[in-house]
Amino acid sequence: MSNAMSRCLWRDIIIFDGLRTRPEPMAVITEGARIITLSPMSEFDEQWAKDCTEMGRGGVMTPGLVDCHTHLIFGGSRAEEFEARLEGASYEEIAKKGGGIISTVRATRAASEDELFRLAQPRLEALMAEGVTSVEIKSGYGLTLEDELKMLRVARRLGERFPIQVVTTLLGAHALPPEYQDQSDAYVDLVCQEMIPAAAAAGLADAVDVFCEKIAFSVEQCERIFKAAQQHGLPIKIHAEQLSNLGGTAMAARHGALSADHIEYLDDHGIAAMREANTVAVILPGAFHTLRETQQPPIEALRQAGVPMAIATDANPGSSPLFMPTLMLNLACTLFRMTPQEALAGMTAHGATALGLEGLGRLYEGAVANLCVWDVETPAELAYAVQPGRLRHRLFQGVITHG
Ligand code: NIG
Ligand code: FE
Repeated sequence: MSNAMSRCLWRDIIIFDGLRTRPEPMAVITEGARIITLSPMSEFDEQWAKDCTEMGRGGVMTPGLVDCHTHLIFGGSRAEEFEARLEGASYEEIAKKGGGIISTVRATRAASEDELFRLAQPRLEALMAEGVTSVEIKSGYGLTLEDELKMLRVARRLGERFPIQVVTTLLGAHALPPEYQDQSDAYVDLVCQEMIPAAAAAGLADAVDVFCEKIAFSVEQCERIFKAAQQHGLPIKIHAEQLSNLGGTAMAARHGALSADHIEYLDDHGIAAMREANTVAVILPGAFHTLRETQQPPIEALRQAGVPMAIATDANPGSSPLFMPTLMLNLACTLFRMTPQEALAGMTAHGATALGLEGLGRLYEGAVANLCVWDVETPAELAYAVQPGRLRHRLFQGVITHG
């Protein structure tokens, strides 16, 4: 159903506005692509209802969810690796033996653009069915110039074909491809001198990411990549401190990174650097859960420091084959003791900030009408129960795409 220019009215609805739950039931009116009225019911004027389509009463409204960290374009499956890990192999051991990310690289290289699009579509639809209206999609399973650009083109196409905002990230430095064995600096040259310039020139990347870890790239190599990205005007972000504390987060923050992601092993020095640079902490409970990690991210220290915390699915075939945003809200609370409000802010306002989309992921008069209406009574229920089918309405840029 398309209602791009008409008015829609919700009455008596509880609003989580991206940062907090409003204290009283509200009325919300959208017109075209915008929210034009967000008012307490106590101030409601019946005149406003004229020319509005009545969308119903009750429920909870949130901003459309923002999933700020995914790898949802890939070929193949890693079910065998899942089984190997259950028998005791670690993620690092599997990676060192040429499995893990590299096995997905083989399958992704072998797949055509159309095939990758076809494979990614149901994953994207799963996110949309749970209320996601903005999603970040990374490359990182191509690891050649052509295959990285292929992945980014698929991401752009998904954004053109579906009612969702796709933000693309070049992750050329995700793993060292086998053909560069023992020549990681030469591979970093390829990322800096060919991938970044080509992706920037073609307008295919909105940001550049790196995996800073012993099994991936060093702090110095990541810094080189950041400098190249910034020379091409691209914002930067980092996978860091996931399996060990290398100090990548502090380096990234010094360069003004949008976000540092995973960060289980982050220390106080890294937290101070993030606070200084307004770098968002992206918490990924799906990867922590799947890899059965035990090192908790420093949630309380981040909270005390006032570093904004985003939550994302990290949807990918290895460390987080979990395509369910509301499960992430639940895991963030149960595993990390975040509050439901913090978790929701992490998938709305702070998720948007992590993508440099300031102002998105919030509900206010004048905001773009990317929003969800849920069949629940309080926002906390979205984190409390893991239960598909509660999305009553999803609007993307004012257009009802669900319900
Ligand atoms: O965010 N940490 C590195 N990258 C992904 C994992 C990708 C994979 O295992 O395929 C992550 O967890
Ligand atoms: Fe990731």
